Amino acid sequence: MPRVVGVAVLGSGGIARAHATALRRHAEAFPEAPAVGRLVAIAGRDAARAEAAARRLGAERWTADWRALLDDSEVEVVINAGSNDIHAEPSIAALRAGRAVLCEKPLARTAAEAAPMVRAAEEAREAAMTGFNYRFVPAVLLARRLVLDGALGRVYHFRARYSDDSLLDPDAPHGWRHERGLAGSGVVGDLASHVIDLAHFLVGPITAVTAAVRTYTRTRPAPGGHRPVTVEDAVVATLEFEGGALGTLDASGMCPGRKNFLSFELNGERGTVAFNLERLNELQVYHGDGRARGLADVLVTERDHPFGGRWWPPGHILGWEHTFVHQWEEFVRRTAGAGGEMVGATFADGLASARVCDALLAAAEEGRRVAVPAP
Ligand SMILES: NC(=O)c1ccc[n+]([C@@H]2O[C@H](COP(=O)([O-])OP(=O)(O)OC[C@H]3O[C@@H](n4cnc5c(N)ncnc54)[C@H](O)[C@@H]3O)[C@@H](O)[C@H]2O)c1
Repeated sequence: MPRVVGVAVLGSGGIARAHATALRRHAEAFPEAPAVGRLVAIAGRDAARAEAAARRLGAERWTADWRALLDDSEVEVVINAGSNDIHAEPSIAALRAGRAVLCEKPLARTAAEAAPMVRAAEEAREAAMTGFNYRFVPAVLLARRLVLDGALGRVYHFRARYSDDSLLDPDAPHGWRHERGLAGSGVVGDLASHVIDLAHFLVGPITAVTAAVRTYTRTRPAPGGHRPVTVEDAVVATLEFEGGALGTLDASGMCPGRKNFLSFELNGERGTVAFNLERLNELQVYHGDGRARGLADVLVTERDHPFGGRWWPPGHILGWEHTFVHQWEEFVRRTAGAGGEMVGATFADGLASARVCDALLAAAEEGRRVAVPAP
Protein backbone atom coordinates (compact mmCIF):
# COMPACT_ATOMS: atom_id res chain seq x y z
CA MET A 1 0.00 0.00 0.00
CA PRO A 2 1.37 3.47 -0.80
CA ARG A 3 2.11 5.81 2.06
CA VAL A 4 -0.47 8.58 2.40
CA VAL A 5 1.14 12.02 2.56
CA GLY A 6 -0.78 14.95 4.05
CA VAL A 7 -0.81 17.93 1.67
CA ALA A 8 -1.66 21.59 2.23
CA VAL A 9 -2.29 23.95 -0.67
CA LEU A 10 -1.49 27.62 -0.13
CA GLY A 11 -3.84 29.55 -2.39
CA SER A 12 -7.43 28.96 -3.35
CA GLY A 13 -7.39 30.34 -6.89
CA GLY A 14 -7.34 28.76 -10.33
CA ILE A 15 -4.08 26.91 -10.06
CA ALA A 16 -4.82 25.55 -6.58
CA ARG A 17 -7.66 23.61 -8.22
CA ALA A 18 -5.30 22.13 -10.83
CA HIS A 19 -3.08 20.78 -8.04
CA ALA A 20 -6.05 19.41 -6.07
CA THR A 21 -7.22 17.62 -9.23
CA ALA A 22 -3.74 16.12 -9.63
CA LEU A 23 -3.83 14.69 -6.10
CA ARG A 24 -7.20 13.07 -6.76
CA ARG A 25 -6.24 11.50 -10.09
CA HIS A 26 -2.68 10.42 -9.34
CA ALA A 27 -3.24 6.89 -7.97
CA GLU A 28 -5.52 6.06 -10.90
CA ALA A 29 -2.65 6.36 -13.39
CA PHE A 30 0.25 5.43 -11.08
CA PRO A 31 -1.00 2.50 -8.97
CA GLU A 32 2.57 1.49 -8.09
CA ALA A 33 3.42 4.94 -6.63
CA PRO A 34 5.27 4.69 -3.29
CA ALA A 35 3.16 7.51 -1.88
CA VAL A 36 -0.07 9.32 -2.64
CA GLY A 37 -1.32 12.70 -1.44
CA ARG A 38 -4.33 13.52 0.70
CA LEU A 39 -5.51 17.13 0.66
CA VAL A 40 -5.60 18.13 4.32
CA ALA A 41 -5.83 21.91 4.30
CA ILE A 42 -6.15 25.01 2.15
CA ALA A 43 -4.86 28.47 3.06
CA GLY A 44 -6.06 31.59 1.33
CA ARG A 45 -5.85 35.31 1.91
CA ASP A 46 -9.58 35.37 2.54
CA ALA A 47 -11.13 32.87 5.00
CA ALA A 48 -14.50 32.63 3.24
CA ARG A 49 -12.87 31.90 -0.12
CA ALA A 50 -10.51 29.40 1.46
CA GLU A 51 -13.51 27.66 3.02
CA ALA A 52 -15.39 27.58 -0.29
CA ALA A 53 -12.31 26.16 -2.03
CA ALA A 54 -11.78 23.58 0.71
CA ARG A 55 -15.39 22.38 0.40
CA ARG A 56 -15.20 22.27 -3.39
CA LEU A 57 -11.83 20.54 -3.59
CA GLY A 58 -12.33 18.18 -0.68
CA ALA A 59 -9.87 19.62 1.87
CA GLU A 60 -10.62 18.85 5.49
CA ARG A 61 -9.52 22.22 6.93
CA TRP A 62 -8.99 25.82 5.83
CA THR A 63 -7.26 28.88 7.20
CA ALA A 64 -6.53 32.51 6.35
CA ASP A 65 -3.12 32.20 8.06
CA TRP A 66 -0.63 30.14 6.06
CA ARG A 67 1.59 29.79 9.17
CA ALA A 68 -1.10 27.58 10.70
CA LEU A 69 -0.30 24.99 7.99
CA LEU A 70 3.16 24.56 9.50
CA ASP A 71 1.70 23.93 12.98
CA ASP A 72 -0.40 21.14 11.52
CA SER A 73 1.34 17.82 12.17
CA GLU A 74 -0.64 16.15 9.39
CA VAL A 75 0.82 18.47 6.75
CA GLU A 76 3.96 16.91 5.22
CA VAL A 77 3.90 18.71 1.88
CA VAL A 78 3.08 22.31 1.00
CA ILE A 79 1.99 23.14 -2.52
CA ASN A 80 2.51 26.88 -2.87
CA ALA A 81 -0.13 28.01 -5.36
CA GLY A 82 -0.38 31.56 -4.06
CA SER A 83 0.26 34.80 -5.92
CA ASN A 84 3.92 35.53 -6.69
CA ASP A 85 4.43 37.76 -3.63
CA ILE A 86 3.68 34.85 -1.33
CA HIS A 87 6.04 32.28 -2.86
CA ALA A 88 9.32 32.96 -1.05
CA GLU A 89 8.50 33.44 2.64
CA PRO A 90 6.07 30.52 3.13
CA SER A 91 8.19 28.17 0.96
CA ILE A 92 11.32 28.90 3.01
CA ALA A 93 9.38 28.60 6.28
CA ALA A 94 7.88 25.29 5.17
CA LEU A 95 11.27 23.85 4.18
CA ARG A 96 12.76 24.94 7.52
CA ALA A 97 9.81 23.28 9.26
CA GLY A 98 10.68 20.00 7.53
CA ARG A 99 8.06 20.09 4.79
CA ALA A 100 8.60 19.27 1.13
CA VAL A 101 7.55 22.17 -1.13
CA LEU A 102 6.15 22.29 -4.65
CA CYS A 103 6.06 26.00 -5.50
CA GLU A 104 4.33 27.50 -8.49
CA LYS A 105 6.21 29.43 -11.14
CA PRO A 106 7.74 31.96 -11.29
CA LEU A 107 9.65 30.68 -8.25
CA ALA A 108 9.89 34.26 -6.97
CA ARG A 109 9.50 37.86 -8.15
CA THR A 110 13.22 38.25 -8.79
CA ALA A 111 16.34 36.11 -8.78
CA ALA A 112 17.44 37.84 -5.56
CA GLU A 113 14.24 36.62 -3.92
CA ALA A 114 14.59 33.11 -5.38
CA ALA A 115 18.22 32.56 -4.28
CA PRO A 116 17.45 32.08 -0.54
CA MET A 117 14.71 29.61 -1.54
CA VAL A 118 17.35 27.48 -3.26
CA ARG A 119 19.59 27.70 -0.18
CA ALA A 120 16.68 26.74 2.11
CA ALA A 121 15.95 23.71 -0.07
CA GLU A 122 19.60 22.62 0.00
CA GLU A 123 19.85 23.06 3.76
CA ALA A 124 16.56 21.33 4.51
CA ARG A 125 17.26 18.39 2.20
CA GLU A 126 13.54 18.22 1.56
CA ALA A 127 12.08 17.73 -1.90
CA ALA A 128 11.62 21.12 -3.56
CA MET A 129 10.18 21.59 -7.02
CA THR A 130 9.22 24.58 -9.16
CA GLY A 131 5.86 24.14 -10.89
CA PHE A 132 7.02 24.29 -14.49
CA ASN A 133 4.35 21.77 -15.43
CA TYR A 134 4.90 22.03 -19.19
CA ARG A 135 7.99 19.84 -18.79
CA PHE A 136 5.47 17.06 -18.19
CA VAL A 137 3.63 17.31 -21.51
CA PRO A 138 4.37 13.99 -23.30
CA ALA A 139 5.14 15.83 -26.58
CA VAL A 140 7.63 18.11 -24.81
CA LEU A 141 9.32 15.07 -23.26
CA LEU A 142 9.45 13.41 -26.68
CA ALA A 143 11.12 16.55 -28.08
CA ARG A 144 13.66 16.36 -25.28
CA ARG A 145 14.26 12.66 -25.94
CA LEU A 146 14.98 13.46 -29.61
CA VAL A 147 17.41 16.22 -28.61
CA LEU A 148 19.20 14.07 -26.02
CA ASP A 149 19.38 11.09 -28.40
CA GLY A 150 21.09 13.34 -30.93
CA ALA A 151 18.33 12.89 -33.50
CA LEU A 152 18.36 16.61 -34.29
CA GLY A 153 22.12 16.98 -34.12
CA ARG A 154 23.59 20.25 -32.94
CA VAL A 155 20.80 22.71 -32.08
CA TYR A 156 20.95 25.99 -34.01
CA HIS A 157 17.68 27.70 -33.10
CA PHE A 158 14.97 27.86 -30.43
CA ARG A 159 12.06 30.06 -31.52
CA ALA A 160 9.27 30.44 -29.05
CA ARG A 161 6.04 32.33 -28.57
CA TYR A 162 3.64 32.46 -25.68
CA SER A 163 0.54 34.36 -26.80
CA ASP A 164 -2.79 34.75 -25.06
CA ASP A 165 -5.56 37.31 -24.80
CA SER A 166 -5.57 37.63 -21.01
CA LEU A 167 -4.63 41.35 -21.01
CA LEU A 168 -6.68 42.54 -23.98
CA ASP A 169 -9.72 43.88 -22.13
CA PRO A 170 -8.76 47.33 -20.76
CA ASP A 171 -11.79 47.22 -18.45
CA ALA A 172 -10.75 44.00 -16.73
CA PRO A 173 -10.12 44.82 -13.07
CA HIS A 174 -6.72 45.61 -11.60
CA GLY A 175 -5.23 42.63 -9.76
CA TRP A 176 -1.95 41.39 -8.32
CA ARG A 177 -0.70 40.42 -11.79
CA HIS A 178 -0.73 44.11 -12.84
CA GLU A 179 1.42 45.33 -9.97
CA ARG A 180 5.18 44.95 -10.06
CA GLY A 181 5.46 44.97 -6.27
CA LEU A 182 3.26 41.89 -6.04
CA ALA A 183 3.94 40.05 -9.31
CA GLY A 184 7.59 41.01 -9.90
CA SER A 185 6.88 41.45 -13.61
CA GLY A 186 4.06 41.04 -16.13
CA VAL A 187 4.19 38.59 -19.02
CA VAL A 188 7.91 38.08 -18.39
CA GLY A 189 7.28 36.19 -15.14
CA ASP A 190 3.81 34.99 -15.99
CA LEU A 191 4.33 33.59 -19.51
CA ALA A 192 7.98 33.93 -20.56
CA SER A 193 9.24 32.17 -17.41
CA HIS A 194 7.62 28.95 -18.70
CA VAL A 195 9.25 29.36 -22.12
CA ILE A 196 12.64 30.10 -20.57
CA ASP A 197 12.38 26.96 -18.48
CA LEU A 198 11.55 24.91 -21.57
CA ALA A 199 14.48 26.51 -23.40
CA HIS A 200 16.79 25.46 -20.54
CA PHE A 201 15.18 21.99 -20.46
CA LEU A 202 15.52 21.40 -24.20
CA VAL A 203 18.55 23.39 -25.31
CA GLY A 204 20.62 24.37 -22.25
CA PRO A 205 21.53 27.52 -20.35
CA ILE A 206 20.73 30.97 -21.79
CA THR A 207 23.75 33.21 -21.38
CA ALA A 208 22.72 36.59 -22.86
CA VAL A 209 19.57 38.41 -23.98
CA THR A 210 18.28 41.55 -25.64
CA ALA A 211 14.66 42.59 -25.20
CA ALA A 212 11.95 45.20 -25.72
CA VAL A 213 8.79 45.43 -23.61
CA ARG A 214 5.52 47.37 -23.92
CA THR A 215 2.68 48.24 -21.58
CA TYR A 216 -0.41 49.04 -23.63
CA THR A 217 -2.97 49.35 -20.84
CA ARG A 218 -1.61 51.91 -18.40
CA THR A 219 -4.39 51.86 -15.79
CA ARG A 220 -7.10 49.40 -14.81
CA PRO A 221 -10.31 49.81 -12.85
CA ALA A 222 -10.09 49.23 -9.10
CA PRO A 223 -12.41 49.98 -6.20
CA GLY A 224 -12.44 53.77 -5.78
CA GLY A 225 -10.95 54.58 -9.21
CA HIS A 226 -8.27 53.44 -11.64
CA ARG A 227 -4.89 52.08 -10.54
CA PRO A 228 -1.68 52.19 -12.57
CA VAL A 229 -0.41 49.05 -14.30
CA THR A 230 3.28 48.78 -13.42
CA VAL A 231 4.21 45.68 -15.43
CA GLU A 232 4.69 44.88 -19.11
CA ASP A 233 1.93 43.48 -21.37
CA ALA A 234 4.35 42.15 -24.01
CA VAL A 235 8.00 41.24 -24.48
CA VAL A 236 10.06 40.39 -27.55
CA ALA A 237 13.58 39.08 -27.00
CA THR A 238 16.62 37.41 -28.47
CA LEU A 239 18.32 34.59 -26.59
CA GLU A 240 21.91 33.34 -26.79
CA PHE A 241 22.59 29.83 -25.51
CA GLU A 242 25.76 28.45 -23.96
CA GLY A 243 25.94 25.79 -26.66
CA GLY A 244 25.90 28.39 -29.44
CA ALA A 245 22.21 28.25 -30.39
CA LEU A 246 20.34 31.48 -31.10
CA GLY A 247 16.74 31.94 -30.02
CA THR A 248 13.81 34.28 -30.09
CA LEU A 249 11.08 34.68 -27.51
CA ASP A 250 7.86 36.61 -27.84
CA ALA A 251 5.31 36.65 -25.03
CA SER A 252 2.20 38.76 -24.94
CA GLY A 253 -1.23 38.92 -23.36
CA MET A 254 -2.47 41.16 -26.20
CA CYS A 255 -3.23 38.54 -28.85
CA PRO A 256 -6.89 38.27 -29.92
CA GLY A 257 -7.87 34.67 -30.59
CA ARG A 258 -4.85 33.18 -28.86
CA LYS A 259 -5.73 31.42 -25.62
CA ASN A 260 -2.74 29.44 -24.40
CA PHE A 261 -0.50 29.48 -27.45
CA LEU A 262 2.85 28.36 -26.06
CA SER A 263 4.76 27.24 -29.11
CA PHE A 264 8.36 26.49 -29.84
CA GLU A 265 10.39 25.29 -32.78
CA LEU A 266 13.80 23.81 -32.41
CA ASN A 267 16.04 23.57 -35.46
CA GLY A 268 19.06 21.29 -35.36
CA GLU A 269 21.58 20.29 -38.01
CA ARG A 270 19.64 17.07 -38.81
CA GLY A 271 16.06 17.90 -37.91
CA THR A 272 13.37 20.09 -36.45
CA VAL A 273 10.69 19.67 -33.80
CA ALA A 274 7.77 22.06 -33.33
CA PHE A 275 5.17 22.16 -30.55
CA ASN A 276 2.09 24.19 -29.66
CA LEU A 277 0.36 23.83 -26.30
CA GLU A 278 -3.05 24.43 -27.89
CA ARG A 279 -2.44 21.07 -29.65
CA LEU A 280 -0.59 19.48 -26.81
CA ASN A 281 -0.90 15.86 -27.94
CA GLU A 282 1.04 16.56 -31.11
CA LEU A 283 4.69 17.10 -31.95
CA GLN A 284 5.78 18.09 -35.42
CA VAL A 285 8.97 16.28 -36.34
CA TYR A 286 11.34 16.48 -39.30
CA HIS A 287 14.20 14.00 -39.25
CA GLY A 288 15.95 15.01 -42.43
CA ASP A 289 17.01 11.43 -43.06
CA GLY A 290 16.17 11.65 -46.75
CA ARG A 291 13.09 9.44 -46.54
CA ALA A 292 10.58 12.13 -45.64
CA ARG A 293 10.21 15.70 -46.76
CA GLY A 294 8.67 18.32 -44.50
CA LEU A 295 7.42 18.17 -40.95
CA ALA A 296 5.24 15.22 -39.93
CA ASP A 297 2.56 15.42 -37.22
CA VAL A 298 3.21 12.80 -34.56
CA LEU A 299 0.35 12.02 -32.18
CA VAL A 300 2.27 11.53 -28.94
CA THR A 301 0.01 8.90 -27.36
CA GLU A 302 1.79 5.64 -28.23
CA ARG A 303 2.75 3.20 -25.48
CA ASP A 304 6.45 3.89 -25.97
CA HIS A 305 5.96 7.66 -25.77
CA PRO A 306 6.51 9.49 -22.46
CA PHE A 307 3.67 8.57 -20.06
CA GLY A 308 2.27 6.35 -22.85
CA GLY A 309 -0.01 3.63 -21.54
CA ARG A 310 -0.57 5.46 -18.25
CA TRP A 311 -4.00 6.74 -19.13
CA TRP A 312 -5.85 5.60 -22.24
CA PRO A 313 -5.18 3.56 -25.39
CA PRO A 314 -3.07 5.22 -28.13
CA GLY A 315 -4.93 8.04 -29.85
CA HIS A 316 -7.05 8.78 -26.78
CA ILE A 317 -5.67 12.16 -26.00
CA LEU A 318 -4.63 13.90 -22.79
CA GLY A 319 -5.33 17.40 -21.51
CA TRP A 320 -3.71 20.25 -19.60
CA GLU A 321 -4.63 18.77 -16.21
CA HIS A 322 -2.57 15.62 -16.87
CA THR A 323 0.62 17.69 -16.74
CA PHE A 324 -0.16 18.45 -13.09
CA VAL A 325 -0.73 14.75 -12.35
CA HIS A 326 2.60 13.84 -13.97
CA GLN A 327 4.34 16.62 -12.05
CA TRP A 328 2.78 15.49 -8.77
CA GLU A 329 3.79 11.89 -9.48
CA GLU A 330 7.45 12.85 -9.73
CA PHE A 331 7.24 15.18 -6.75
CA VAL A 332 5.66 12.59 -4.47
CA ARG A 333 8.28 10.06 -5.61
CA ARG A 334 10.97 12.56 -4.60
CA THR A 335 9.35 13.09 -1.19
CA ALA A 336 9.29 9.31 -0.69
CA GLY A 337 13.01 9.13 -1.56
CA ALA A 338 12.25 6.86 -4.51
CA GLY A 339 14.35 6.80 -7.68
CA GLY A 340 13.48 6.72 -11.36
CA GLU A 341 13.94 9.34 -14.04
CA MET A 342 13.51 12.87 -12.67
CA VAL A 343 12.66 15.61 -15.15
CA GLY A 344 10.84 18.20 -13.02
CA ALA A 345 12.25 21.64 -12.34
CA THR A 346 14.18 22.02 -9.09
CA PHE A 347 14.31 25.26 -7.14
CA ALA A 348 17.71 25.85 -8.82
CA ASP A 349 15.91 25.59 -12.19
CA GLY A 350 13.35 28.11 -10.91
CA LEU A 351 16.21 30.44 -9.99
CA ALA A 352 17.80 29.95 -13.42
CA SER A 353 14.54 31.02 -15.08
CA ALA A 354 14.27 34.01 -12.73
CA ARG A 355 17.80 35.12 -13.67
CA VAL A 356 16.82 35.22 -17.33
CA CYS A 357 13.56 37.06 -16.49
CA ASP A 358 15.60 39.70 -14.62
CA ALA A 359 18.01 39.95 -17.56
CA LEU A 360 15.13 40.48 -20.02
CA LEU A 361 13.74 43.35 -17.94
CA ALA A 362 17.20 44.90 -17.52
CA ALA A 363 17.93 44.56 -21.25
CA ALA A 364 14.63 46.26 -22.11
CA GLU A 365 15.10 49.03 -19.57
CA GLU A 366 18.72 49.75 -20.47
CA GLY A 367 18.40 49.13 -24.21
CA ARG A 368 21.40 46.81 -24.38
CA ARG A 369 22.47 43.18 -24.51
CA VAL A 370 22.61 41.77 -20.98
CA ALA A 371 24.62 38.75 -19.88
CA VAL A 372 22.74 36.32 -17.64
CA PRO A 373 24.73 35.77 -14.42
CA ALA A 374 26.11 32.23 -14.22
CA PRO A 375 24.81 30.10 -11.32
N1 LIG B 1 1.84 26.38 -13.88
C1 LIG B 1 0.93 27.06 -14.54
O1 LIG B 1 0.62 26.74 -15.68
C2 LIG B 1 0.26 28.22 -13.88
C3 LIG B 1 -0.95 28.72 -14.37
C4 LIG B 1 -1.58 29.78 -13.69
C5 LIG B 1 -0.98 30.33 -12.57
N2 LIG B 1 0.22 29.85 -12.13
C6 LIG B 1 0.88 30.44 -10.95
O2 LIG B 1 0.12 30.10 -9.81
C7 LIG B 1 0.12 31.17 -8.87
C8 LIG B 1 -1.33 31.54 -8.54
O3 LIG B 1 -1.98 31.91 -9.73
P1 LIG B 1 -3.58 31.88 -9.84
O4 LIG B 1 -3.90 32.05 -11.26
O5 LIG B 1 -4.12 30.70 -9.13
O6 LIG B 1 -3.91 33.22 -9.04
P2 LIG B 1 -5.21 33.62 -8.24
O7 LIG B 1 -5.22 35.09 -8.13
O8 LIG B 1 -6.40 32.90 -8.80
O9 LIG B 1 -4.94 33.00 -6.80
C9 LIG B 1 -3.94 33.51 -5.95
C10 LIG B 1 -4.19 32.92 -4.60
O10 LIG B 1 -3.16 33.37 -3.69
C11 LIG B 1 -3.76 33.45 -2.42
N3 LIG B 1 -3.00 34.32 -1.52
C12 LIG B 1 -2.50 35.55 -1.76
N4 LIG B 1 -1.93 36.05 -0.64
C13 LIG B 1 -2.07 35.09 0.30
C14 LIG B 1 -1.70 35.00 1.66
N5 LIG B 1 -1.04 35.99 2.28
N6 LIG B 1 -2.01 33.87 2.35
C15 LIG B 1 -2.66 32.86 1.74
N7 LIG B 1 -3.04 32.88 0.44
C16 LIG B 1 -2.74 33.99 -0.25
C17 LIG B 1 -5.13 34.05 -2.69
O11 LIG B 1 -6.01 33.75 -1.62
C18 LIG B 1 -5.52 33.33 -3.99
O12 LIG B 1 -6.28 32.19 -3.69
C19 LIG B 1 0.93 32.30 -9.51
O13 LIG B 1 2.23 32.27 -9.01
C20 LIG B 1 0.93 31.96 -11.00
O14 LIG B 1 2.09 32.42 -11.67
C21 LIG B 1 0.82 28.80 -12.76
